[in-house]
Amino acid sequence: MQLEEIINLDKKYFMNTFGNRTPVCFSHGKGINLWDINGKKYYDFLAGIAVNALEHSHPKLVNAIKQQAEKLIHCSNLYYIESQAKLAEKLVSISCADKVFFANSGAEANEGAIKLARIYFKKKGMPEKYEIITLEKSFHGRTLATIAATGQDKYQKPYCPLTPKFLKVPINDLEALEKAINSSTCAVMIEPIQGESGVNLTSVEYMKGVRKLCDEKGILLIFDEVQCGLGRTGKLFAYEHFGVEPDIFTLAKALGGGFPIGALCAKEHVASAFEPGDHGSTFGGNPLACTAALAALDVIIEEGLVENSAKMGTYFMSKLSELAEKYSIIQEVRGKGLMIGVQLSIDAAVEIKNKCFEKGYLIGSIGNNILRMLPPLIVTEQDIDGMIDTLDSVFQEYQI
Ligand SMILES: Cc1ncc(COP(=O)(O)O)c(C=O)c1O
Repeated sequence: MQLEEIINLDKKYFMNTFGNRTPVCFSHGKGINLWDINGKKYYDFLAGIAVNALEHSHPKLVNAIKQQAEKLIHCSNLYYIESQAKLAEKLVSISCADKVFFANSGAEANEGAIKLARIYFKKKGMPEKYEIITLEKSFHGRTLATIAATGQDKYQKPYCPLTPKFLKVPINDLEALEKAINSSTCAVMIEPIQGESGVNLTSVEYMKGVRKLCDEKGILLIFDEVQCGLGRTGKLFAYEHFGVEPDIFTLAKALGGGFPIGALCAKEHVASAFEPGDHGSTFGGNPLACTAALAALDVIIEEGLVENSAKMGTYFMSKLSELAEKYSIIQEVRGKGLMIGVQLSIDAAVEIKNKCFEKGYLIGSIGNNILRMLPPLIVTEQDIDGMIDTLDSVFQEYQI
């Protein structure tokens, strides 16, 4: 099919939630590259918004999915599932969690986290503790509960009134958090690095303070690592940067290397609040999804992708900082590992993103003054140099 025909079909039959998408349709990918249906090659510095961590169509992932699909794609959670048990074991062995539950997406994993925090206190005989405090500018998903948890008006307004209620506090403001905690609070939920609002970092001091506050007040700490987890920030889990462990954390995006799967991970004393019938999912943790995730995790760990993320992240940030010295429109370069945001002083992020696209480089924009880069974790210095040269040539057009 021609691109125009695909766009026409989409406009006629697909609900218009994504607006005018970038006019391209990809047919295949390999490594960091994608090719569109006309054969044009692109460098993917967005990786499906932090999903394609390994690379496009990594042979180990492809083979695992192929072999499992030939044997058994799905069976009900009414039965025991080998790959589900193994994936749970794997996640527990590499993280601070003791138990895991599988969902199909980040939002669903977060829904599970919210439910778990609430039921934990209900079962302790404290049903009045049901409120969760989240951060302003956070993003936790698109289900009703997770948009209520999200600290950005634009996602919430169309759906008000929202239930349940989440109190919001500013990032890195321990005093505001302490003031917000009240007798109804059951948990604090934080993205260790906020992705969707522009790569905003929490400080080590703040995170240590949050952990201490939660312990003192007897409430739970939940980390949403849907975007920043699994090597993206240069550590396997973002919480490792802060020297604190959450009671509950969630994963998705990179977990299946592109195959949809989310995980709700928790310490034993919290996880045990879920008893038979308290939570469930038809598809969550099915044989195919768990097999894909086992293969993806193996690649992330065994092929040194976490280390590469840290190393290439440092290189990328230093190159971007050099660009910042050259171009005054770059206000700030921020991030950790390969989760990077470039704050611009002008409203031209969408235009710059589109110009990079025309030159064969895929990046993201947030609002109209932040550029976002989330390349696959296999990115090389050479790939980064190409991205930097492209940005350099685009920024020249904005030099005053
Ligand atoms: C931090 C965070 N949490 C949750 C979500 C929602 O994940 P999903 O789109 O898989 O439901 C996202 C998606 O961007 C995210 O970045």
